[in-house]
Amino acid sequence: MTATLTHGAPAPTAGTALQVENVTKTFHVARSASGNDRLKALDGVSLSIGRGETVGLVGESGCGKSTLARTLMLLETPDSGSITFEGRDPFSLRGKELMAWRRRVQMVFQDPFASLNARMTAGEIISEPWATHRSLYKTARERDARLRELLQLVGLRSSDAKKSPQEFSGGQRQRIGIARALALNPDLIILDEPVSALDLSVQAQVLNLLNELQQKLGVSYLFISHDLSVVRHVTDRVAVMYLGRIIETGTTEDVFERPLHPYTAALMSASPKLDPAERPAERIVLRGELPSPLDPPSGCRFRTRCWKAQDICATERPAARTAQETGRTTAALPAPAVRRPGAVWSLGTAPGAGPGSGSAWPDGTPVPEQAGMADFTHLAECHFPMEEPAAPEQPATVG
Ligand SMILES: Nc1ncnc2c1ncn2[C@@H]1O[C@H](COP(=O)(O)OP(=O)(O)OP(=O)(O)O)[C@@H](O)[C@H]1O
Ligand code: SF4
Ligand SMILES: [Mg+2]
Repeated sequence: MTATLTHGAPAPTAGTALQVENVTKTFHVARSASGNDRLKALDGVSLSIGRGETVGLVGESGCGKSTLARTLMLLETPDSGSITFEGRDPFSLRGKELMAWRRRVQMVFQDPFASLNARMTAGEIISEPWATHRSLYKTARERDARLRELLQLVGLRSSDAKKSPQEFSGGQRQRIGIARALALNPDLIILDEPVSALDLSVQAQVLNLLNELQQKLGVSYLFISHDLSVVRHVTDRVAVMYLGRIIETGTTEDVFERPLHPYTAALMSASPKLDPAERPAERIVLRGELPSPLDPPSGCRFRTRCWKAQDICATERPAARTAQETGRTTAALPAPAVRRPGAVWSLGTAPGAGPGSGSAWPDGTPVPEQAGMADFTHLAECHFPMEEPAAPEQPATVG
């Protein structure tokens, strides 16, 4: 299939609920050895979530997943970029409109032990948001009925409303957290490691519950997790983060089975496969430590661990490229690496210019008119050297 790639953030898809574009968030921190005191936790993050869709967000610890979640919850203010939900920018809203927006995006936290107030009953915890959003359920009778309904929705009994969090198991506590998130009838729930503190058997129950709720209520999820097998199981699309940047997005199957970015390839090569026959012959083990986000590498942030890195990777920042037909994105360089027969990127000097319409590589070389993208889905096409090596390249380490 011929695919067309464009330079920039993914276009909003039909039914897009949330659109994040080019969001940057900097924290002021203690000065590092190099004298830097500004930590860019999010550096030009773009992401979309459709209505009723589950998007997974994966990446190593400290890459910015929770910062993005907190920004979507309006707990952090981005330095730049835009966030729109159903076409509205929450940072431009005030008063009642802002309240209404806050109601629509809710969060379930990782730790069901720490995230529930031990001095309140389950019923008080679940109904607490109604004290702020008074117009939602006006009478005590309405609130009681809704509370019973929510308890039933998450698989708890009405009598559980009177118990305190200590009287529940971890899985039951997470059900209370989910009921609290549902109390305001949100359109999007951010799940930040929602099952990682639970036993395996309880994890499955909570994941099934989330799935059932989505089927019933049509709610969208942003599912943040380190557990790739869970992400593979529960998400429709996946976004991969590395040091504050999203370096790849696509359908869950594409990202797991046909990763484009070397970092994704390494991450996915380590993910357990359901069918042992599918097990990759080689596991790519990344060399070196994750660099400090306070002093990230220049150019491509992954270059210090990338076995495909070239000189240009130290000086050029990879930009997001989107395959229009599939909406897949990857961060890639307009490097000579991509200039080979069969590869077309509509990276024109004129925005939106495509092959055959005068588009050119950054050095001015015209993009060949007849070129196609037939082999784009080959692993990290954009990161390959111009000439295929005679023998397969050695990954960093084979484990
Ligand atoms: N309030 C803050 N002040 C200063 N630095 C912060 C703050 N919040 C986050 N950071 C830093 O921003 C970076 C991203 O943190 P974040 O919590 O978003 O990572 P994460 O991907 O959620 O990690 P994990 O998987 O461990 O939860 C980290 O380097 C972190 O130390
Ligand atoms: S080839 Fe270069 S741009 Fe691509 S991931 Fe590796 S270091 Fe980054
Ligand atoms: Mg986190």
